[in-house]
Amino acid sequence: MARATPSGRGASYGQNERVRVLITRGRIQRRIQALAKEIRRDFPHEPLHLVSVLKGGVFFLTDLARNLAGKVSFDFIAVSSYGQDTHSSGQVRLTRDLDSSIEGRTVIVVEDILDTGMTLQYLLRLFQHRKPKHLRVAVLLDKPAGRIAAVRADYVGFTIPNEFAVGYGLDYSERYRNLPYVGVLTRAAKKKNREK
Ligand code: IMP
Ligand code: MG
Repeated sequence: MARATPSGRGASYGQNERVRVLITRGRIQRRIQALAKEIRRDFPHEPLHLVSVLKGGVFFLTDLARNLAGKVSFDFIAVSSYGQDTHSSGQVRLTRDLDSSIEGRTVIVVEDILDTGMTLQYLLRLFQHRKPKHLRVAVLLDKPAGRIAAVRADYVGFTIPNEFAVGYGLDYSERYRNLPYVGVLTRAAKKKNREK
């Protein structure tokens, strides 16, 4: 049975999967506080409308929203771009649209990770057509080595190497989202049968 230990020390899920801590819970929280201040400094008087991408962006959105002073509202959109694996299909499909119009609003797209950029490129085109007053992007993690589409985020939590990240919303086949830190998924090499 999988044994998940969402402590600061990493987790072991069965024999072949391990999660190595990359960014601790404390660092994530401190960075989000700073990002919230930065966003509020850029838009001191505007009501901010946070639009998060389900499901990975939800943890980031809730912590960001709690650290933002002033008027804040939020909404959710869902797209599918990844299958069951750690590689992108490159295809982005809208699976759930926003509840309310973004016309004339100051919109911050809140994403868990920017990798190839295909998801964000798709979303930014979609949202731009709806005529927001401002459209900005906040991502918790940026993986520049994976980039295919020419998009960039306005607010970046952490730039990370080209490894598969899990935790704090990020999943591998819907697992690991609940970890309070960001880790890297590694598969332990199978132990050789040693003769004694
Ligand atoms: P992009 O379209 O390749 O930029 O990827 C965006 C989406 O792919 C993210 O919202 C994640 O759902 C997923 N993704 C990309 N890299 C990772 C990763 O390292 N771990 C988990 N999910 C990832
Ligand atoms: Mg996602």
